[in-house]
Amino acid sequence: MNDMTSTDSGAGLLSGKVALVTGAGRGIGAAAARLFAREGARVLLASRTETELRGVVEDIRSLGGVADYVVCDLGEGGSVREAVAAAVDLYGRLDVAFNNAATGQPPGPMDELGEDDFDQVCAVNLKGPWLAMNAEIAAIRATSKRGAIVNTSSVGSLMANPDLPVYGATKRALNSLTASAAVTYGPENIRINAVAPGTTLTEMLREWDDRSPGTIAHLNSQTPLGRAAEPEEVAQAAAWLLSDRASYVTGTVLRVDGGMWAA
Ligand SMILES: NC(=O)c1ccc[n+]([C@@H]2O[C@H](COP(=O)([O-])OP(=O)(O)OC[C@H]3O[C@@H](n4cnc5c(N)ncnc54)[C@H](OP(=O)(O)O)[C@@H]3O)[C@@H](O)[C@H]2O)c1
Repeated sequence: MNDMTSTDSGAGLLSGKVALVTGAGRGIGAAAARLFAREGARVLLASRTETELRGVVEDIRSLGGVADYVVCDLGEGGSVREAVAAAVDLYGRLDVAFNNAATGQPPGPMDELGEDDFDQVCAVNLKGPWLAMNAEIAAIRATSKRGAIVNTSSVGSLMANPDLPVYGATKRALNSLTASAAVTYGPENIRINAVAPGTTLTEMLREWDDRSPGTIAHLNSQTPLGRAAEPEEVAQAAAWLLSDRASYVTGTVLRVDGGMWAA
């Protein structure tokens, strides 16, 4: 077995690691930032809304964790690269990254989506993770030499998605990018995976339900576990994939969907 414990300085799943989490101000990303810190990581949180980021960082610090934030717009290459550089500036290295941020789309048939919305969804959900992975891989290479990245896809990437067609298309493209990156960077011991959440109780889901009432109830009726996930249930899967316990896992899209896809 190769050296899997060189950054493991404690009992937590992510002890000794420096983690970047995008979309960390709320929802799944905020749950992940809190969890990663509890599991021993030093965490840099990134998104656009400073008040949300500050609140999560203060919570983490009040519990003894180590966290900072950087305001970042995933739609802008320079902003993404600055966020990754900030992790190295603050903590001296980058070991793992959770590319979780994304934007939804107004629900409806694809011919009703405007071109500007199409471009925005693609910029944030596909170009954003591409930019982030490129910068993260360079930072991992330059510092910790090996690492792991998890991208947040969606169970909606694996099936037709008539209510959110362009969102679903960006997530399917992200699965492809994840697989390609896993093949390219595996020889450097950088593992790259995705999580594909199902129905998860966050602002994004509630917004969809507000615009299309009954959506959550309908999705739950198609889910063997019969309920939506709490954000931390998705974060737990990401934490494991980023940890050394998943040392032989790369190139996979791990469904965290209450069995929805299997049904
Ligand atoms: N909730 C679900 O049911 C569900 C299901 C499948 C997949 N997902 C995926 O799970 C991930 C997290 O979503 P969530 O449900 O936790 O949604 P959320 O509560 O709306 O959180 C989204 C996060 O992404 C950030 N974000 C959005 N646009 C951004 C941009 N341009 N630049 C930087 N950050 C940006 C948001 O912060 P700012 O707005 O402040 O930037 C926020 O922190 C997403 O990839 C989503 O597609 C969610």
